[in-house]
Amino acid sequence: MTKTFYITTPIFYPNAKLHLGHAYTTTVTDVAARYHRLIGDETYFLTGSDENTQKMVDAATKAGVVPMEFLDGIVANFASLYASLNISYDQFIRTTDQKLHWPGAQALWARIDAAGDLYKKEYEGLYCVGHEAFVTEKDLIDGKCPDHGTVPQYLKEENYFFRLSKYAPQLKEKIESNELLIVPESRKNEILAFIESGLEDVSFSRPRKADWPDGLGVPVPNDPTQVMYVWCDALSNYITALGYGSTDDARYQTFWPGVHVIGKDILRFHAAIWPAMLMSASAPLPKTLFVHGFITSGGKKMSKTLGNIIDPEELLNEYGTDAVRYFLARHISPFEDGDITREGFKEAYNGNLANGLGNLASRLMKMYTSYDVASKYAGIPFEVGDGLMVKEAAFGKAIEAYDFNRAMNIIWEKIQKADQQIQSTEPFKLIKTDEAKAVSIVGDLVAELFTIAILLKPVMPETASKIESAIKENRMPEALFPRKD
Ligand code: MSP
Repeated sequence: MTKTFYITTPIFYPNAKLHLGHAYTTTVTDVAARYHRLIGDETYFLTGSDENTQKMVDAATKAGVVPMEFLDGIVANFASLYASLNISYDQFIRTTDQKLHWPGAQALWARIDAAGDLYKKEYEGLYCVGHEAFVTEKDLIDGKCPDHGTVPQYLKEENYFFRLSKYAPQLKEKIESNELLIVPESRKNEILAFIESGLEDVSFSRPRKADWPDGLGVPVPNDPTQVMYVWCDALSNYITALGYGSTDDARYQTFWPGVHVIGKDILRFHAAIWPAMLMSASAPLPKTLFVHGFITSGGKKMSKTLGNIIDPEELLNEYGTDAVRYFLARHISPFEDGDITREGFKEAYNGNLANGLGNLASRLMKMYTSYDVASKYAGIPFEVGDGLMVKEAAFGKAIEAYDFNRAMNIIWEKIQKADQQIQSTEPFKLIKTDEAKAVSIVGDLVAELFTIAILLKPVMPETASKIESAIKENRMPEALFPRKD
């Protein structure tokens, strides 16, 4: 039976353009999805946008555009970045989708309600629009949210609350036993400590706001005065997109549960609230949460005031899709915070792509074509093809552990080794004295280049296919990575 593999990114807030941090999450999710497709798993990759939010309404107002139009503009922007990054998503869910998302979110709400896990309560407290979450005095510095630099709003309102506290013991057990696997271990420990410190019930709805247009905010079933709190609404996207709660839930049946790729900032929502919602609704828990760190720029958080924001479009225009994908997969740690600078990017590009991979491919293919190796050598594993992905077990193991750096290092060790072999065996000299030997050396090395091309497929699909077809068609590859000065 074919295995299924379902993977998601967070649904990002469409209040501004996506930056390199969002590009990171989406790219590594794409790498995992492509890998699973290549090894033959029936794969489904979901991404989307989290639209029913106050911060979007604020951003639209600031831009002088009505919210629904503003949303369409930003979502088109997401799609264009995804195209530039070559993201192979199967579906893009929008939480303003009243056909697909709303009925599913409401069905989930109804299940949670039927389980007795929702109750109404007067709430008084502080709300940070940047976080789209309630905060407490102790989260603030000088009365401001340290992450957003804004004074939170004081709110007094009646909301529905979700009995999160009730699920603490079960959550702890599911996470400790890895039934809900949290990668890396450090994030698992972080969330276990958080659960241990005591879980409080969470607000799950907000009174419908007068300045919200129709079509924004999922109505609470049987209570039109309330809309679902954005996190309750947003988390449900992972199953509503698959048709949960609708008459056609075939995709839900096939693909759920799956893997969520998230940044460390939204661990609590995904490792506590979301699984508790699912338990309450008697639905299966996600299999895995892969939690990555944050990208910093020059050691600092990217911010407009510091002027150190790196726009993914800028890198893509200058270096191309695969160079950006390469950098994110190889040079940003998947488990801790990782740093990027323009200089560091250029150095990695010139050293490892122009001089490394690009140079190796053109040197080898030059010898391969001019010595007519194709007609004399039969050792290139064409028939194994994409099967090499499975055969090269260490590589697959690394990707399956979300250790993209290690997977890439495995490829670059092969590149380095091939370079050294050219240097030590000197086939370009040998061809004059011992043709058969030179042909066999070059053939072996091109067989290795073929393996490299296959392994590159999940991360650098265009480059991989350029090298693969050059070998298959016995010709020079097009220029891969011109040096940048
Ligand atoms: N809308 C919520 C998610 C709901 S999911 C049910 C949200 N959106 S967000 O637009 O703020 O995106 C947060 C995510 O963006 C992070 O979890 C991470 O995936 C990514 N990143 C944002 N900044 C980042 C960095 N500086 N570095 C790496 N990833 C970052 O939260």
